[in-house]
Amino acid sequence: MGLLDTIKDSISSIVPVTVGSRSAVGLDIGTSSIKVVQLRKEKGKALLETYGEIAIGPYASVESGRATHPSAESAVPAIKDLLREANVAALDAGVSIPFSAAMTRVIKVPRLGKEQLSKIIPIEARKFIPMPLNEVVLNWFIIPERPGSQAQESNRSLNVFNKDKNIDFQDALIVAIHKDAVANMQSIARQTDLQVSFFELETFSAIRSSVEYELSSTMLLDIGATSSKVYVVEAGVLHFSHLINLGAQNITENIMRSFTWPFEKAERVKKEIGLNKNSAMSVFDEKDRLMFEQVVENAVNRIFTEVNRVMIGYEKKNNKPISRVVLSGGGANMHGILDFAVKKLSVDVLKADPFAKVHAPAFLNDVLKGIGPDFAVATGLALRRLESS
Ligand SMILES: Nc1ncnc2c1ncn2[C@@H]1O[C@H](COP(=O)(O)OP(=O)(O)OP(=O)(O)O)[C@@H](O)[C@H]1O
Ligand SMILES: [Mg+2]
Repeated sequence: MGLLDTIKDSISSIVPVTVGSRSAVGLDIGTSSIKVVQLRKEKGKALLETYGEIAIGPYASVESGRATHPSAESAVPAIKDLLREANVAALDAGVSIPFSAAMTRVIKVPRLGKEQLSKIIPIEARKFIPMPLNEVVLNWFIIPERPGSQAQESNRSLNVFNKDKNIDFQDALIVAIHKDAVANMQSIARQTDLQVSFFELETFSAIRSSVEYELSSTMLLDIGATSSKVYVVEAGVLHFSHLINLGAQNITENIMRSFTWPFEKAERVKKEIGLNKNSAMSVFDEKDRLMFEQVVENAVNRIFTEVNRVMIGYEKKNNKPISRVVLSGGGANMHGILDFAVKKLSVDVLKADPFAKVHAPAFLNDVLKGIGPDFAVATGLALRRLESS
């Protein structure tokens, strides 16, 4: 990926940018690239003003497209260049916190008032957070129950909290985020011109932009550079999350090893061909073509075997099926990934389309659909800011 690769054809020259208090920026600081989306609220609608993406690699002395830990040293100049090149003029921003810095869990808590719960929940949270609580930012939300839901009916039988069988229980989502990760993002943001009004776990941003409200369970799968994130959402609420330490860069690394190619070549050919057997024919001789197919398929299969395992585990534990999988992140752009995912997971699979939630000139529809999976987090952040303005 070049500094601003194809996304450089920023639409800011097409949509007149009239920045005011109603414009908001979403900034997604990933390990391989930083994405930005600027939206404006007009007559109750979100209009897309501009967007862009920049690889962090060159700012951290590694190849473009390669993942690195985004430190202030590398991310700040990258963000400054990105904001300039994408013509981002609004300053009011929301910034993502990586899911790898978080632990989430749904637990049963007694149906008590907020004050009492805020005393009980940290005690419960300690059981699954493997570090002192003063090292994390702890948040919790009560998951709204649907009338007649299984959870509601089984409340009394799940009373493990208290000997009193008459106490009613409800589900609470606990989210613990490493303070270090938040401090890192705060330090990065402070050194840019942006005025950051909130930091949000990328999970919630991606769900906001890319998962439709449905009572059945949807899995959002964000295939990033070094990791893939699995989120299960019901009625707009996160019920389960899991980090898989394999991402689209693992596919590149497998190609590098098998063909003894440098990173840039392996990355480029991966993006050009992916799982598309037909397009590989013109690039390779027969033997190499077969090897390429095998290498890519094996690497993608490793990710999806893990996704499948997590999916089956969730379905069994909760006794309900995942009815749909939505793919986001750069890995979702891989040629042939939809068909692969459908075969492997035996469920309806589609690509995230976060820009469907915003208005943009019709002629950009195809472009925005194509790049949508990359911008799920950044769009979700900007949408949150607009919702609250
Ligand atoms: N067309 C494509 N085919 C295959 N892989 C692709 C394609 N486009 C992007 N990728 C891969 O997606 C990965 C980058 O995805 P993304 O931008 O979501 O990562 P990130 O947000 O920087 O990482 P993370 O979320 O893990 O911190 C890279 O490994 C890149 O090679
Ligand atoms: Mg990402």
